[in-house]
Amino acid sequence: MTAAALLAPAPALAARATPLPRLDLVLIGARGQVGSALRQRLARQHARIAALTGLDLRLLAAFDRRGFAFDLAGLEPERLGDALQPRRDEDLQALFSHLARPNATPTLVIDCTASEEIAERYPDWLASGLGIVTANKRANARDLAFYRTLRERASASAVPYRFETTVGAAIPLLGPLRDLSLRGERVVSIQGVLSGSLSFLLERLHAGVSFSDALSEAQALGYTEPDPGEDLRAEDLTRKLLVLAREAGFDLEPQQVDVTPFSESAAAHPSSWRDRLAIEDATWAARIATAKAQRQRWVIVAEVDRDGARVALRTVPDTSPFATLPAGQNLVRIETELQGERPLWLGGPGAGPEITAAGVLSDVIDAAAELAARRYGESRRRIALA
Ligand SMILES: NC(=O)c1ccc[n+]([C@@H]2O[C@H](COP(=O)([O-])OP(=O)(O)OC[C@H]3O[C@@H](n4cnc5c(N)ncnc54)[C@H](OP(=O)(O)O)[C@@H]3O)[C@@H](O)[C@H]2O)c1
Repeated sequence: MTAAALLAPAPALAARATPLPRLDLVLIGARGQVGSALRQRLARQHARIAALTGLDLRLLAAFDRRGFAFDLAGLEPERLGDALQPRRDEDLQALFSHLARPNATPTLVIDCTASEEIAERYPDWLASGLGIVTANKRANARDLAFYRTLRERASASAVPYRFETTVGAAIPLLGPLRDLSLRGERVVSIQGVLSGSLSFLLERLHAGVSFSDALSEAQALGYTEPDPGEDLRAEDLTRKLLVLAREAGFDLEPQQVDVTPFSESAAAHPSSWRDRLAIEDATWAARIATAKAQRQRWVIVAEVDRDGARVALRTVPDTSPFATLPAGQNLVRIETELQGERPLWLGGPGAGPEITAAGVLSDVIDAAAELAARRYGESRRRIALA
């Protein structure tokens, strides 16, 4: 099937006299786990998305560190391999100059990398009128000044900036937090088991699997970051806590989070922690045996309250809701001024490329509708749930 055929409006929509307005997508991290799952979803759900948004969404460009593809007519999302060419230094400059020209088609950049270099570019992209949807939490976890700049630029350019999947993958967490703040309800504290990879590791450790085998399993299932040392130093979890806490109204700098790493070797020897897996195996076997004897369970909790923010590796009674979570699940407890005695609990799968891609697609549809409403007029804000 050609790109034009694949991306053509659904028959019912095609029957209309006027073609659907176009909205372009640029996908970064196109062959990664989340990027690949997202491409499949874009291909499968094109007609549904057209019906929901009233828009002709086209994949204008896609790239990763190695390859680059750009087609004004639109790329075939599920057959990108055929279109990707080795990436040249000048490719990105040419693409972003094209996107920045006056009266350019409204465009969303979708970041499915874990790249700091890509996150650094968000302020410029937002300022040039591009909307951003991201699964990459790095931008929101940088210093507070950068975090505020992102919001200011998005607001000044009237473009969407969406990042729901950066915490809790597809669990709606950031949306409900924003709703609480719209109601004027102050969040008093948040506690969460938020790392899909670390809660999976703990579940396997409590099941008697060695630390090194549990880590291999987590990697094989795609639960860890591209560099699993980041999970083990709790860097990724710290970033999630920063994103969540800031969205809840806590103004935190990264260095204000007190962090206990999951693996002391990974924290103390970042470049050679794999050589010390046998030590971690023994440490964890002893920890688990002691906890079991005391009817306790190890958890790694990210929390923020009036006293500060911390990522804490500790034991809790084995009946605690945080202790009884199935592998790979996330759970968050949110206490507000109104919901003190009966806090809000939100939970679900906290990792996995498919559910993350589904969450990214939801952000893309929402952001596309918002961007189109701003560029083509309010009548386009229809998410036509007919
Ligand atoms: N996997 C999950 O379950 C999950 C859940 C929630 C959130 N996320 C987030 O989603 C993002 C992607 O995760 P993933 O599991 O899909 O990672 P992944 O499989 O390692 O894919 C990363 C992709 O990013 C590309 N990339 C890296 N640096 C780049 C750069 N500077 N410029 C262009 N492309 C670059 C890589 O390209 P090359 O191959 O060419 O290096 C690769 O295509 C991460 O931020 C992660 O935290 C993932």
